[in-house]
Amino acid sequence: HHVDWEISAAEKGGYEHFMIKEIMEQPEAIRKTISPRIRNGEVVLDDLKLSARDLEEMDRLYIIACGSSYHVGMAAKYVMEKLLRKPVEVTLASEFRYCEPIVTPNTLALVISQSGETIDTLAAMREARRLGARVISIVNVVGSTIARESDGVLYTWAGPEIAVATTKAYSTQLAVVYLIALYAARLLGTITAQEYDAILAELQRVPDKLEQILNHKEDIQYFATLYFNRHSMFFIGRNLDYAVGLEGSLKLKEISYIHSEAYAAGELKHGTISLIEPGTLVVALAGYTPLFEKTVSNAVEVKSRGADVLGLTTQAMATALKGTADHVIAIPETHPILLPSLEVVPMQLFAYYTALQRGCDIDKPRNLAKSVTVE
Ligand code: G6P
Repeated sequence: HHVDWEISAAEKGGYEHFMIKEIMEQPEAIRKTISPRIRNGEVVLDDLKLSARDLEEMDRLYIIACGSSYHVGMAAKYVMEKLLRKPVEVTLASEFRYCEPIVTPNTLALVISQSGETIDTLAAMREARRLGARVISIVNVVGSTIARESDGVLYTWAGPEIAVATTKAYSTQLAVVYLIALYAARLLGTITAQEYDAILAELQRVPDKLEQILNHKEDIQYFATLYFNRHSMFFIGRNLDYAVGLEGSLKLKEISYIHSEAYAAGELKHGTISLIEPGTLVVALAGYTPLFEKTVSNAVEVKSRGADVLGLTTQAMATALKGTADHVIAIPETHPILLPSLEVVPMQLFAYYTALQRGCDIDKPRNLAKSVTVE
């Protein structure tokens, strides 16, 4: 038994679980994913095999994925529509096949998958291709089926991910989304040189900023010890904050088995607010500065109905959020479009430490599989 323990501790790099090891690996994984694709201040994505003409003629971008990869797609929709001014539709792979998608020869499909083997995603991708779309993909496992069947593939160099709940694959997928968005925006001429340089420079600072967040992971562990025994948690936010809330909520329910939902903050009042009662925890994501006040007003609404509010925002807005939230997680400043890359990490840590406090089987949660190859 002693030997078994030593082997498994070594595999986990001295950490208690693969999940926390992989959370800690994110700065390096992002560096490995982005640095080979940035040369002389320019994003170079030859593997995409997309010309300016292809992009100009593109009538629509379909993003197809499942689970956390789908949540990357949700963030990507905001990012791509903002930077490319083209319609982007994010579709769950399990729905795509059965929804009569509107695909023309000028439709581009972007498939996102860690494993490259998820059967729903693979089937949706084949359907998109059958209908005439060109297919590009963001995949972690080299040589996987989705990678092999794509017209262009961009690998996330996250390395093997063992924990069922994804962390570093999500983060590197998102980093690739930013690279694609910058690259395509430049080809399309929908971004100024100044904006391009600003986003690219900040993207390259994401790993260092994640290290700052990870150096204070015990702060998030403390919040988890306050709230781990709640029955229900909600994640609210708008725009990019909403996309991150979806992932924060999924992480939490996957590994801690606490009931949780993510809501676009403005939609709460159309039903879900009836579930708020004393003792409900609401995680209010308010990092996206243009909508800060709007999300805070929703946090005030749940607070007045007895909820406890754990806020998440940037350092500059932390004091303002403390007026409403019981506790605030403050992350470093960045370009607003890059916020999901920073915000997701405290959400992963919160889920991890909550599950740890509850004594859950973190790396192998019940009923879940790392890669789902059945429909
Ligand atoms: C499973 C995993 C999730 C993952 C999803 C999609 O449900 O448990 O963590 O997000 O599949 O997997 P993929 O490999 O296609 O990204």
